[in-house]
Parts: sequence; structure tokens; C-alpha cells
Amino acid sequence: MTQDPASREIRIDTSKPHPARMYDWFLGGKDNYPVDEEMARQLLTVDARGRDMARVNRAFMHRAIRWLSAHGVRQYLDVGTGIPTEPNLHQIAQAAAPESRIVYCDNDPIVLAHAAALLRSTPEGATEYIQADARDPEMILERAGKVLDFDKPIALSMLALLHFLGDEDGAQDIVAKLVDQLAPGSYLVLSHVTGDFDPEGAAKAVGMYKA
Ligand SMILES: C[S@@+](CC[C@H](N)C(=O)[O-])C[C@H]1O[C@@H](n2cnc3c(N)ncnc32)[C@H](O)[C@@H]1O
Repeated sequence: MTQDPASREIRIDTSKPHPARMYDWFLGGKDNYPVDEEMARQLLTVDARGRDMARVNRAFMHRAIRWLSAHGVRQYLDVGTGIPTEPNLHQIAQAAAPESRIVYCDNDPIVLAHAAALLRSTPEGATEYIQADARDPEMILERAGKVLDFDKPIALSMLALLHFLGDEDGAQDIVAKLVDQLAPGSYLVLSHVTGDFDPEGAAKAVGMYKA
């Protein structure tokens, strides 16, 4: 596991709700606090499909990784990993191809606290966890390069992540910087919340997340 030397001590703020822990609650996990559950329940009053969205998103990840593996991909860079929920990406990839190499990355200390569950690789493959922020793609690339071979195809996954970045963060540039470094034959797997079906509800939910 690698992280900034300055942030070696894991500090988890349980006084404020956090998206990773709310997502864990939506998925029926136990790695969340009352403050997360309360906020998640409030969101369900705005859009009752919150739980379904989390589950459907997770199912998409499962299908995408199985598809990628069947199409020969053996390297994965997953940014915005979330609190481990089985099966995790590496378990799907390595069940199909044990030699698969996976680098996970998240900026939330609670994910770091649970990262050991992400590191149970097959002996033939590798899994690594990087504590880093998506807004620092250079750092992600540098650290991922110690595990992944950027001369060979890599699947970059950014699942249910980019809606947490503001316009000022330059999501498009971040994706471009990462994608630019990928070899031909690589893939981008991306999912994103949309307000298309319920603009009013989505606007309310965005306000609640921001608050
Ligand atoms: C909704 S979860 C998605 C988890 C997983 N990718 C999935 O689709 O099942 C979003 C994750 O993105 C992480 N995240 C949010 N902003 C981030 C940032 N700037 N850098 C890295 N991770 C971030 C959160 O900590 C959280 O774990």
C-alpha cells in the first residue's frame, strides 16, 4: 500500500456524512456510521432509487470486468474504488485470469483503512492500493507505473466517481491525462449519475451532497 508520507495516520471524520460510506450503506455494507445512514435515508426521500442505483452500478462493474477479461485485458487501474464490497474488481478479473494485475486508488481514509481486503491477490497476479486523489493524475500514473506496464493495454475504470468532482476540478482534463498514457487496445470504463430522468430530484440531491 502506498500513500503520502504526510498522511500515514488514518483519520476518519465520523461527524460528517461521507459519499464512500453512504454508498456502502446503500449497498447494505457495515462500514458506515449513523451520520452516513441518516444522510443516505434523507437522499432516499428525494430519490427512492438510490439503493438501486448503487446496486445497478456495481452490477455494471461486474459485467464490464468479465467482458474485458474475456477480451484479453489483464491490467486494471481503478480510480475511486470505494469501500471494498465483494466481489471486488480484482476478484472478478483474477477469477477469469489469475495473472491479472490491479491498482486501486481512492482519496478517502476509510477506504485506506479497509484496503487490506483489496490486496488479497492470486499468487500469479498483483493488487496494489494507492491512497491518492483523482485530481492528481500525475501521482496516480507514477505510482501505478510500479505495478502496471503502461506499454500494454490497461482498463481504466472511473465508476461513480466523476460526479464528485466540481467543474473547477476539470474532470475532462483528468480523464484525458490518464487516458493519454494508455497503450493502444486499452479501455475506459465509466459510469456517472445523471439528472436526465429527474432534473429536479437530481438538483436537490446535488445540493444535499454539497452541503
Ligand atoms: C460512489 S463510490 C464508487 C465506488 C466504486 N467505484 C463503485 O462504482 O462501486 C465513489 C468513490 O469515489 C471516491 N472519490 C471521490 N472523490 C475522489 C477523488 N477526488 N479522488 C479519489 N477518489 C475519490 C470516494 O471516496 C468513493 O470511495
